[in-house]
Amino acid sequence: MKLTHVGVVGAGNIGAGVVTDLVLHGINAVAVDLSEEILKKAEAEVLKNIRFAALFSKSLPRVSREDASKRLVLTTELKDVASCDFVIENVTENWEIKKRVYEKLEKAVNVVGIHLMNPVHLKPTVEVIRGFHTSDRAVDTLLQLFSLLNKEAIIVEDLPGFVSNRISHLFMNEAAFVLQDNVATAEKIDLIFKKCFGHKMGPLETADLIGLDTVMRSLDVLYESFQDPKYRCCPLLRKLVYAGHLGRKSGKGFHVYPEA
Ligand SMILES: NC(=O)c1ccc[n+]([C@@H]2O[C@H](COP(=O)([O-])OP(=O)(O)OC[C@H]3O[C@@H](n4cnc5c(N)ncnc54)[C@H](O)[C@@H]3O)[C@@H](O)[C@H]2O)c1
Repeated sequence: MKLTHVGVVGAGNIGAGVVTDLVLHGINAVAVDLSEEILKKAEAEVLKNIRFAALFSKSLPRVSREDASKRLVLTTELKDVASCDFVIENVTENWEIKKRVYEKLEKAVNVVGIHLMNPVHLKPTVEVIRGFHTSDRAVDTLLQLFSLLNKEAIIVEDLPGFVSNRISHLFMNEAAFVLQDNVATAEKIDLIFKKCFGHKMGPLETADLIGLDTVMRSLDVLYESFQDPKYRCCPLLRKLVYAGHLGRKSGKGFHVYPEA
């Protein structure tokens, strides 16, 4: 199957990363979001990622700003992805919002879950979730796309949170409780994971990178899905989100990011 045009619905944190990865690998991206303003911000993020890609990874292709711009279409119209060979949905982690998008998309597409890691263009592995009705054809097409992006796929079955979120969100949430209980500072909590366990990032830094709003909503989904109190969102995490401290994307979360 030809895979020259991919629709990217939702051009936020992950969507901008997906567009970067596609464009870097010579695939045309049609990015959809709610406003011109959000799309312009996403475009700036994509072009910045592309400019610095070679610094972060020697294996990524080099692409000029002009070629990148030629491979990118920005639109507020969902119908513009109709002619795409594949569509990747990355809208806000809120079922009411996703449901409305899928009601329109599902007329034309077969769904397979993909859990891309952040930053998308620098992560070589993705978690793929086979849904109850996912066809072998949809999975094969996805694997074809990932081979173009030089990514390895680990296929798992469908339950809320799959493997990665179901486990990682317990870490991040409990780290927030540890901070709330004044057991240690955010710096020390993250240092213990980095220095003692050899993790690249600590749980609070990871939550800041994902976006605290997205972490909070994912915990709420896990809590509602399993009806298990172990997924109750830490009040400190919720308080930060309501205060607008969303992590890297807002410049402040558990840590401070002066460059944001
Ligand atoms: N942030 C991460 O590290 C990460 C990692 C893996 C998966 N995810 C998942 O990716 C999805 C997006 O997360 P994010 O962090 O990019 O969130 P985000 O809030 O940064 O971006 C979501 C984008 O969706 C847009 N949107 C909302 N409704 C829309 C609609 N109807 N049509 C088009 N666009 C719409 C919003 O305007 C926003 O730009 C979520 O499901 C999240 O769980 C996020």
